[in-house]
Amino acid sequence: MTHEVVLIPGDGIGPEVAAATRMVLDATGIDIGWEERPAGAGALETDGALLPGSTLEAIRRCRTAIKGPITTPVGEGFRSVNVALRQDLDLFAAVRPARSIPGVRTRHRDVDLVIIRENTEDLYRGIEFERGTPDATALRTKLYELGGFQIPEDAGITLKPISVSGARRIVRFAFEYVRANRRRKVTVGHKANVMKYSDGIFLETARTDAAGYPDVAWEDVHIDTLSARLVRSPQAFDVLLLPNLYGDILSDLCAGLVGGLGLIPGANIGWEYAVFEPVHGSAPDIAGRGIANPVAMVLSGSMMLRHLGELKAADVVDRAVDEVLGRGEVRTADLGGGSTTLEMAEALADEVIRANAAS
Ligand code: NAI
Ligand code: MG
Repeated sequence: MTHEVVLIPGDGIGPEVAAATRMVLDATGIDIGWEERPAGAGALETDGALLPGSTLEAIRRCRTAIKGPITTPVGEGFRSVNVALRQDLDLFAAVRPARSIPGVRTRHRDVDLVIIRENTEDLYRGIEFERGTPDATALRTKLYELGGFQIPEDAGITLKPISVSGARRIVRFAFEYVRANRRRKVTVGHKANVMKYSDGIFLETARTDAAGYPDVAWEDVHIDTLSARLVRSPQAFDVLLLPNLYGDILSDLCAGLVGGLGLIPGANIGWEYAVFEPVHGSAPDIAGRGIANPVAMVLSGSMMLRHLGELKAADVVDRAVDEVLGRGEVRTADLGGGSTTLEMAEALADEVIRANAAS
């Protein structure tokens, strides 16, 4: 059976790591029908839109996509493509595993964390009022009327909505994830003591719905304390369940724990669609030089294979990453080596083919 998959190469190092990923996934022998579609700064030039309607339509048709990073042009009127995709396709759950990989030297060993991040609400909902605009003035006036809140005239305002329904689906997703993947524990990160009515809902919903999962251990920790504890003893944690903004920040922190952004894959999942992508951005500082680490996107590819039910092939790809990095002969610059993206891709593809032939 052919799996129809939309491939969005993206911007910066995106096309480089996307080509590498395609090479490694094709080496598994799984029949993937790649439908390549543009999005991002490149698409703005060729199609006149950051997120062309035809790209969105292709994802709706195939239901599964894998994308490279996308550069959001700084300036007026640009909605981040990533935020748009997550909202338009209602990809409410981001799953980002961070585990120690053999041969990658870091401060900590035996880290094995999974971040589950709410992907549609919170401060990233995109509700913003620019300082000095009539809307910002109207909002400031209203807030003064409602609660006597005095917000300075020169303030910009970003809103933080968190709903019971939004929290409920991500809480359930996380607890179901723990069960399905035989994990140990959920840690809910929040600041409900300060943000009683937004983070408070997140925590309360977790507390209420955790009761339906008596077999799953859980705890809650303030997000600042959690950051310190993660840096000191990441092995004490298992699945981190976080509202949108904290999830974004701790994803990069956890990337740092296991060797950097070049290694961390991700999935954005909703009821109907799934879009897989590395956690890292388009890395303009190294783009076009063929030296980016493709592992984060390759591992996003193995998450996609698992999602498509190709469990064996996914394991083969994961093991190939461990094997190649463990041997340490082929390593990109971010891991202290001198190999190119292509050399890394070829080493991974060779290892996948070798493993398939051996089994
Ligand atoms: P970034 O992740 O692109 O880069 C941060 C640092 O990590 C840079 O030094 C970069 O060279 C390095 N790095 C990242 N990925 C790497 C890889 N695969 N191999 C080797 N080194 C790697 O973050 P930054 O600089 O904050 O953002 C750059 C652009 O990417 C921005 O336009 C941002 O909006 C966009 N971005 C897009 C994302 C997405 O499409 N999902 C996610 C994050 C940022
Ligand atoms: Mg981020």
